[in-house]
Amino acid sequence: MTTAVNPVETSYWVIVPAAGAGKRMGADKPKQYLPLSGKPLIAHTLENILHWPGLKGIVVAIAADDTEFATLRCAQDARIQTVTGGAERADSVLAALDYLSEREAPETSILVHDAARPLVSVADIRKLLAAAPMALLAQPASDTVKLSQTRGGKTEVRETLPRDQIWLAQTPQKAPLGKLRETLLQGLAENSTAITDEASALERAGFHPELVAACRSNFKITHPADLLLAEALLQHRAVESSLENNL
Ligand code: CTP
Ligand code: MG
Repeated sequence: MTTAVNPVETSYWVIVPAAGAGKRMGADKPKQYLPLSGKPLIAHTLENILHWPGLKGIVVAIAADDTEFATLRCAQDARIQTVTGGAERADSVLAALDYLSEREAPETSILVHDAARPLVSVADIRKLLAAAPMALLAQPASDTVKLSQTRGGKTEVRETLPRDQIWLAQTPQKAPLGKLRETLLQGLAENSTAITDEASALERAGFHPELVAACRSNFKITHPADLLLAEALLQHRAVESSLENNL
């Protein structure tokens, strides 16, 4: 008799980079601590992750001068650890990978998920867990995509790219601990500005992570308008679930 392996049962760690300053948000504190439907943005993200099937634990990379994380209610959860992040997102992820590589086997599956994406759906997480060992959530481009160039001080169209091959990378991004750490270290040493996500480090090393189409709600809160949109979606979900509970 063959036993079917349910990929969702494979356990994994989640790394949450949360050491950014949120400059594009232009607020008086890093965006992960801005209020969203009654609690800080990062609390939504972490409480969401705590419900993912097969989760072993979370390592959150926080800024060296962070005084807010410890005040969150979920910071007391035994499944959540913290490390000190670095100057760029990749440095923050690497700090968490260093922490885990001292404790876990190199084959351990890692999902890196931005603190600023509170609305990823559990259905998309299941799809990601069932995908190839190296995979990421992404959004197929829906607008026509233009490549630009600058001429005479103006930004103009250089050419139109074939939209059916364009995907916008999101998180979580999944890879085995050892390979991810190795390729990130190598990528940062060779050309640190090119390493803007985990997949870009894996690609430079010759890997081709699988693209898993995600639901549109998994946008990254970057600008003030994104916070309003997230608030509206959370309110909508709250109304839907209270209607379901009252049926
Ligand atoms: N991040 C991090 N360490 C850094 C920079 C970013 O851990 N040195 C984290 C952010 O906290 C965020 C995620 O990486 O959860 C995605 O980065 P981004 O959306 O660019 O956030 P910020 O860098 O904070 O925002 P901005 O670029 O507008 O300053
Ligand atoms: Mg940034």
